[in-house]
Amino acid sequence: MPLTDKRFKLNTGAEIPALGLGTWQSAPGEVQAAVTTALRLGYRHIDGALCYQNESEVGAGIRDAIKEGIVKREDIFVTTKLWCTYHTRVEEGLEESLKNLGLDYVDLFLMHWPAAMNANGSHPLFPKHPDGSRDIIWSHSHITTWKSMEFLLPSGKVKAIGISNYSLKYLEELLPQATVIPAVNQLENHPQLPQQEIVDFCREKGIHVTAFSPLGSTGGPLLSADPVVEVAKKNGVSPVTVLLSWHTARGSSVLAKSTNPARIEANKKLIALDDADLAAIDTYSKENIAQNGGPTRYVYPPFGVPFGFPDKP
Ligand code: A2P
Repeated sequence: MPLTDKRFKLNTGAEIPALGLGTWQSAPGEVQAAVTTALRLGYRHIDGALCYQNESEVGAGIRDAIKEGIVKREDIFVTTKLWCTYHTRVEEGLEESLKNLGLDYVDLFLMHWPAAMNANGSHPLFPKHPDGSRDIIWSHSHITTWKSMEFLLPSGKVKAIGISNYSLKYLEELLPQATVIPAVNQLENHPQLPQQEIVDFCREKGIHVTAFSPLGSTGGPLLSADPVVEVAKKNGVSPVTVLLSWHTARGSSVLAKSTNPARIEANKKLIALDDADLAAIDTYSKENIAQNGGPTRYVYPPFGVPFGFPDKP
């Protein structure tokens, strides 16, 4: 079986395809065709979110592929995410996404960040206080949001529920209170931000990890990092293939974002990295972290607080 067709089993028993098409920052006017192209090329996993503000085009791309007979709905795995201004109205957040996508259900519904933002603030998605800081409702616990997400399961409109951007601290708060263990934790993940403790913790708890921004996001230096280039040369593949395949080797699924047909095609190639390849990337990862005094994160939450997960005041 080509690695592109590889799937990982979730704790629900369903399978998530190892490679997904990411749609964050995929421009309206481009993303519909990109989704259809990806499905035509064999992708079976499409990742979106309400706050990407392109869900209706993502849905149109899926429906085009279904109309063209490329896939049936049940052949594909579609993820969307509950946005922060919907933590107090979880069902509404889901309905909004389903309406945008034009679908009856999603395969995975993730809490996008463990922080609620003011639903009645200055903006429907990115509300700010007058001083410019983000309007976060700190008194609303992410655990309350999770409980509301658990109630969605019997409707069949979400086949699985999960979390995104959860640090260990938030995972440790959530799990003792959860009736349903999250199926997935979706994280920024690449050799400059390996998040090994979180990946290990999730594995131990049966939570599948999906990696986003595996190339280190737009313009990231990972593609030209010497050890990545060397492993690529040794295997006769591109650095992109190495960076994407690093996740399958770790047992994670990975999201490759592109709207460019040639890149969508190129990103399909995954290989089995051997122990020497993985050791070389591990060494690069450790050296990079030591040189920079810590891991490098490219994707910051729109919260106006330092990285990753909101630090409660
Ligand atoms: P584009 O959409 O123009 O193809 P990440 O997933 O790490 O956030 O990175 C996404 C960025 O990487 C996007 O800017 C995307 O650009 C670019 N990208 C995606 N696939 C490739 C590829 N095969 N080679 C080079 N850049 C790529």
